[in-house]
Amino acid sequence: MLKFFSYMRTRTAFGLLFFLIAGTALLVCITFWAWSGMDTDRQISPLVKAVLLLAMFTFAGAAMLILFMGEQIARKQAALNKQKQKYRNLFELVPCEIAILDKDFRLIHFNHRFAEKFNPKIGEYCFRAYKGREQKCEPCPVEKTFEDGLPHFSEETGYAKDGTTAHWLVVTSPQKDDDTGEIAAALEMTLDLTDLKLLEDKLKKSEKKYKDIFNNIANPIFVIDREDFTILDCNKSVQGVYGYSQSEICGTRFIDLFVADDRKYFGQLIKMRNEIHRARHLRKSEKTLFVNIRISPSEYEGKFVYLVTTSDITQRLEAEQQLIQASKMATLGEMATGVAHELNQPLSVIKTASSYLMKKIKSNTPIKNENLCTMAEEIDTHINRATRIIRHMREFGRKSGITSEKVSVNPVVEKAFDIFAQQLKLRGIDVVWELSPHLPSVRADESKLEQVIVNLLVNARDAIEDRWGRRSPGMDTREKKIFLRSHSDGRFVIIEVEDTGSGVAPDLVDKIFEPFFTTKNAGKGTGLGLSISYSIIREWGAAIYAEPGRSQGARFIIRFPVSKQDAPPPEGGMINNAAGV
Ligand SMILES: Nc1ncnc2c1ncn2[C@@H]1O[C@H](COP(=O)(O)OP(=O)(O)O)[C@@H](O)[C@H]1O
Ligand SMILES: [Mg+2]
Repeated sequence: MLKFFSYMRTRTAFGLLFFLIAGTALLVCITFWAWSGMDTDRQISPLVKAVLLLAMFTFAGAAMLILFMGEQIARKQAALNKQKQKYRNLFELVPCEIAILDKDFRLIHFNHRFAEKFNPKIGEYCFRAYKGREQKCEPCPVEKTFEDGLPHFSEETGYAKDGTTAHWLVVTSPQKDDDTGEIAAALEMTLDLTDLKLLEDKLKKSEKKYKDIFNNIANPIFVIDREDFTILDCNKSVQGVYGYSQSEICGTRFIDLFVADDRKYFGQLIKMRNEIHRARHLRKSEKTLFVNIRISPSEYEGKFVYLVTTSDITQRLEAEQQLIQASKMATLGEMATGVAHELNQPLSVIKTASSYLMKKIKSNTPIKNENLCTMAEEIDTHINRATRIIRHMREFGRKSGITSEKVSVNPVVEKAFDIFAQQLKLRGIDVVWELSPHLPSVRADESKLEQVIVNLLVNARDAIEDRWGRRSPGMDTREKKIFLRSHSDGRFVIIEVEDTGSGVAPDLVDKIFEPFFTTKNAGKGTGLGLSISYSIIREWGAAIYAEPGRSQGARFIIRFPVSKQDAPPPEGGMINNAAGV
């Protein structure tokens, strides 16, 4: 009802209603008077009575209708007011600046935020209010909206009240005249992007910084898919090391950088390890390079990836190989005396046979066929032996490769001893064999392993002489002993070289594997034998260490992980020398 009365404030409506109510009341009275029969003088015709009744109901109906319509209109008006308030609130409370502009770009209306931010006046040009300009901005989204009647967007940069640079997003939309349907004004909404822009700038700078760091790291870095090893990204160093440009290599498979035979093996290894040593990779030019690889799981653009860093160790390995080779030559020198003895025996047999033959021929004495045959056989056997020794020396002296293969350790130990046997015999050193048969094979290089065993034998020989002195052959060999052992627990294959020599003093235990460390006289020791043996053994993921021997001497132990076909070997390395050796 209150709403109704508020509507009734309109005078016309109130007057009309008053007229109708009053009219109805009057008609009720007249009708009552006519029907009651109070006027006895004049009889009122039934037609007049009916007209009076009709008029009364018409007036009452009209009054009721106006009352009803008034209620309806009041209700609509209230809803309209509510909506208007809502839009006004929206206009004022939205977290952006809103202005309404006329076709001359003058401000007609603006919200509170706009007023606070730009301090404008009604009727002021928008470009002046926004940017303190005297002319329209180019391009102007408001102008476009007036031209094509469509909404437009633009990003603007200007100055805030405090003089700092501000960025905002401007959205314009047309405001049509309800009656004519023509565009009468444009609504311009401004969203402050300054914080967002600053954040974006910071983000861009930090992204650039990390991209620069990523690209300038000297080692190649690859981002590879964890499932199929596809290279998703890489840094610039890849080109320097591998010869492929970033665009050439991205999209290919990281695993294809390995030499074909190694791909399956390293494919497994990448998923299991965070470091891989001495892998063979191929450059674009098909040249091989040796790399150490570091792998760390990560995420990249929503994918699970590996971050893979490779370091080219080819030059270092080549230098190491040269050193190993040089040390091998030194070992060959050590072995020369033994070899001379070894060759002496077949030569003296051949000499004896040839002297015998010459004597018989000169004295014209016939030689029995049987004797000739025996002699020929002897010569043949000894020539074979000499040939074997020379071939062995040749093979031993040959430069070995960087890669490893499956090796049975027992024959290598036997071969190393073979070349050395004569020397030990001459010095009265007894060798005790404790090789376990049927050992699993290991990953190594035969020639290099032989070099390590020879180094250990030379050291054992020297240690024994250091303790017992150099006695002539044929003397008591009870104390001068070298034990050569091999055994396995299924996971490791172990080779031991133990002697009854002077042993290693406890304070030297940590030093004996260092390069150039020697306790031997100048000219005798170079201090390279053990350090080179150590780096050879490490190549294969194996370990070498020393322990005290049973009778004062030293025991050197080489521990190989058992090689399984296609199964990656466990990470190996040197175990610290046992104290008290
Ligand atoms: N079997 C051993 N018994 C005692 N000491 C040893 C033995 N093997 C090595 N050593 C010690 O380790 C040192 C380093 O050995 P190595 O590297 O082979 O160099 P070099 O034999 O030229 O001295 C030796 O000088 C010696 O002191
Ligand atoms: Mg040595």
